[in-house]
Amino acid sequence: MARCLRFGITLLLALATTVWAQVPPKGFVTTECQGSVMMILLDRSFLVGKYFRIDPINKQGQSVSLSPKLAAQCGYSLSVDFWGNAKFLASVLSCFAQNTNDETYKLAVRIGVSPNSDMSSSSSYMQTMTCPYFPWATREILCERNYMEVSVRRGVPPIGSSFVQDQPEDWSNIKIEAAAADSAVWQVVFHGSEKKSMTVAQAISNGYGISTTPTRIMLRAAYNATEVQLQEIQTVPVAVIRSTTFYKKRWMLMMVDTAVACPIYDTSFTEDMITWKVPRVLTPLVSATPIKDLNVQMGIDGQKLNPETVEEREYKLDVGPNLITVQIPVGADGGYYKSHVLNKTYGTTFFIEAMLEHTWQDEVYDETKYTVLHPITTPFLPRPPHVTNDTVTEDQLFNVTLGTFLPDVELVEIKVGQETLTVPEANLKGYNAQEHSFPNGSKAYTLQVPFEDPNVQSEPTSPVTRTFTLTITYVLNIVPEDIHFTHPAEVIATVKTIIPPTVTGYCDIAQFYIQVTYGNLGRNWIPFVGSTELAGGLLAQYNYSDNATNFWIAVPYNSLDVTYEVIHSSDIRSRLDLTLKDIETMVVVTTFSLSCSFPTKMIECFSNGTMAALAVKVESVPSLLPNLLTLRDPRCRPVYFDAFNAVFYFSVNSCGTTRRFDNNFMIYENEVLFSIPGNSYQFAIACHFQINDTKVVQFMYQDNIQHVIQPGFGDLEVVMRLSLDSSYSIFYESQDYPLVKYLRTPLYFEVELMYSQDPQVDLVLENCWATYSADRNSLPQWDVIVESCEYTADTYKTLFHPVSSNGRVKFPSHFKRFEVKMFSFAEDQDALKGEIYFHCGVVMCDANQISDSLCNKQCVSAKRRIGRSAEWRDAEKAKTFVSSGPVDLVRSVNARRVRHRNSYWSLVAVGGVCSVVLFVSGIVAFKKMQKDLCSK
Ligand SMILES: *[C@@H]1O[C@H](CO)[C@@H](O)[C@H](O)[C@H]1NC(C)=O
Ligand SMILES: *[C@@H]1O[C@H](CO)[C@@H](O)[C@H](O)[C@H]1NC(C)=O
Ligand SMILES: *[C@@H]1O[C@H](CO)[C@@H](O)[C@H](O)[C@H]1NC(C)=O
Repeated sequence: MARCLRFGITLLLALATTVWAQVPPKGFVTTECQGSVMMILLDRSFLVGKYFRIDPINKQGQSVSLSPKLAAQCGYSLSVDFWGNAKFLASVLSCFAQNTNDETYKLAVRIGVSPNSDMSSSSSYMQTMTCPYFPWATREILCERNYMEVSVRRGVPPIGSSFVQDQPEDWSNIKIEAAAADSAVWQVVFHGSEKKSMTVAQAISNGYGISTTPTRIMLRAAYNATEVQLQEIQTVPVAVIRSTTFYKKRWMLMMVDTAVACPIYDTSFTEDMITWKVPRVLTPLVSATPIKDLNVQMGIDGQKLNPETVEEREYKLDVGPNLITVQIPVGADGGYYKSHVLNKTYGTTFFIEAMLEHTWQDEVYDETKYTVLHPITTPFLPRPPHVTNDTVTEDQLFNVTLGTFLPDVELVEIKVGQETLTVPEANLKGYNAQEHSFPNGSKAYTLQVPFEDPNVQSEPTSPVTRTFTLTITYVLNIVPEDIHFTHPAEVIATVKTIIPPTVTGYCDIAQFYIQVTYGNLGRNWIPFVGSTELAGGLLAQYNYSDNATNFWIAVPYNSLDVTYEVIHSSDIRSRLDLTLKDIETMVVVTTFSLSCSFPTKMIECFSNGTMAALAVKVESVPSLLPNLLTLRDPRCRPVYFDAFNAVFYFSVNSCGTTRRFDNNFMIYENEVLFSIPGNSYQFAIACHFQINDTKVVQFMYQDNIQHVIQPGFGDLEVVMRLSLDSSYSIFYESQDYPLVKYLRTPLYFEVELMYSQDPQVDLVLENCWATYSADRNSLPQWDVIVESCEYTADTYKTLFHPVSSNGRVKFPSHFKRFEVKMFSFAEDQDALKGEIYFHCGVVMCDANQISDSLCNKQCVSAKRRIGRSAEWRDAEKAKTFVSSGPVDLVRSVNARRVRHRNSYWSLVAVGGVCSVVLFVSGIVAFKKMQKDLCSK
């Protein structure tokens, strides 16, 4: 034993340095005894961004710099877990552990931590630990990640058992080796394909670890040692070293079987299950079968687990006749995931540090304790990160999530468009880059970038849409390895860029109603009605109201801010122009025009000959000033005007008004005039009078000939009344009826053109007749006046009475009077009783127009009587008729029989007021019939 140590020391001295170390800070170092393995754990928080090393301290108090090779040779291993924690494992039989009677073991290490990779200016800490490990099994085998270790009790058993009967060949060969060997020297014989014998010193220099302890001899080998043979046992590849170590001292030869075998490549994977198989009977280690299993136990992280925990974590441990199978679900408790990048793809592996302890008994070694420490890493599983686009276009903000990642990934930089930013820089720019952690430990990164950001590409994709494209390259890092990888993302959002304001409207008979709906840019414009800004007093005037998205106004058709487009006799077309102008640039954003026709009386023609005319300023004559408008007679000016309207009142016999006859109309005409150089303006105004009909109104102005001119109509009233006597001063009123008149009593009729103030109008009675019913066309008929002459064919002659002016009669030409004796119709010489109606056909004539043939044939003024002409028939259309009210001719109370033209009859007027009718047909027919009747 002492020699062994001397060899070891000699070999390692060159690498050792004296330790000047302090006690590690609290929480940095944890130690744990895990059976025959001593564990030292360094907490990551003390190692972040630093370099470190762990070196064992030898007996002389010097630290020994461990290379991987030396670590395997001496029974040490070092690994760093996912979090960056460092795990240092040492076999209790490791080179520099101090062994006290194979019962307690003391290990001292120097821990160096430096910010530099060359370990300069490092802090040194010393950590010691002591573990008990006792009792030992006769043989113990430890399969660590980087070495295989076997130790065998070397006490000489009492004589009695024949333990050398197996494999006699090996032993006999060793005997030869041993015979040739120096005395008092330990030697090793490897039984590979070629037998090799070497001294311990040679073996150690070949990378083996060999030592003796107070009770044991130990051999340690790396998996790639020269004498390792690969065997397949129960389909599991196993690394095997078969060796015998012996000690010869003159008369004594001691041989120890130091064979060792550890399974390799023994794990298979599915996506969610790890299966680890270890041969139950490792034949190179077992001389005689069957073996007896004393204990099979699995563990994690160097700790054996009881069956309950195994079940709870859903592990499985199955001991078959040939294989011990351990199954661990991927992701199970006790392990962890790790991020990787392979072929630029992000993915994960799962890592778990499993162990298996199998204790069996066979004849040769009594008891073998076989321990396998087996760190398992699942194959790389690609998990490309997912880009989630949570952008809500209304927010005008890209909202992108990248994930998910394991906690060992960190976002380093974000390249947005062409700009590369760290996460703090991105946040400073307002991109709001954030990490989100999920309960299962994974995480994702969200990023928000405004559409309008300069790093966002944008282009119009249609007149009203714009497409924004955000190109991101995420630069991520896997810690602690510091592996950078990138992930690109492109998100696109198409938005309706500008929803312009919209205007709608409608009209009723007096107003425009306008609704303005704001666009998505809000109210960034100023409304104008016509050319006036909608503000101030106009708001109330136009009944303005609004809410968050609309405003409404109601504008009268004749307000100052609207435009008259076309004027008709009975309506006016008015247009409202609404303009929305940008609040800053005053550029027109939206225009809206609404034209409507509003029923309007532009001219009124009164029966007394007064004309009223409204002249308005139309769009086509912008220079027109209503206050300067006149009629033909420039002295006739508007009685009222404002900036857009002028109102005229004048009599038909004033202001240059002319009169003409056209078919059955009497037409008064004048003009509204405005004349400035280069722009003359003229409204024609006309009143068309038709007896008992509508006035005709026309508006016309020269400069705007496309406008439609429509005639209108008005009333002239003609009445027929009965006078009490020939003085024509008192007339029967409606309340005087019924009247009683005897046969042959004179009836005094008067026909008047009512209201007219035109002295030049002549009222002419063309024909008058009586009928038996209200229908003036009914039969029989009795002529009273024929072709404006007294009817003389009858015994009772009709008699005209002249009319002269007095207080009641202003214009005698507007009147006609005649007298008829009360009569009755007779049939078969019998007078008929019943109503008698008197009707007259009335014609308006121009008192000055001598050429008017109709008007010239009056009996009243015989000088004008020229004779019939073609015009007569045309003029007939202008004729109107007046009738007396229905007049009932009833016999006196006692008279029962009618005696034609001899009896006395009562005349009862049933209706009071003369009605005016306007039928021209039937005249010819009645004349015929009348003649037939009268010729009898
Ligand atoms: C075994 O591997 C280590 C590195 O892990 C190397 O240094 C050593 O030389 C190898 N030994 C043999 C015998 O190949
Ligand atoms: C971004 O999207 C996520 C997921 O929909 C949401 O929870 C978050 O509120 C959004 N952020 C913003 C600023 O809209
Ligand atoms: C004619 O009648 C109208 C309406 O009744 C009245 O305003 C006007 O003064 C009258 N004109 C004359 C001259 O009587």
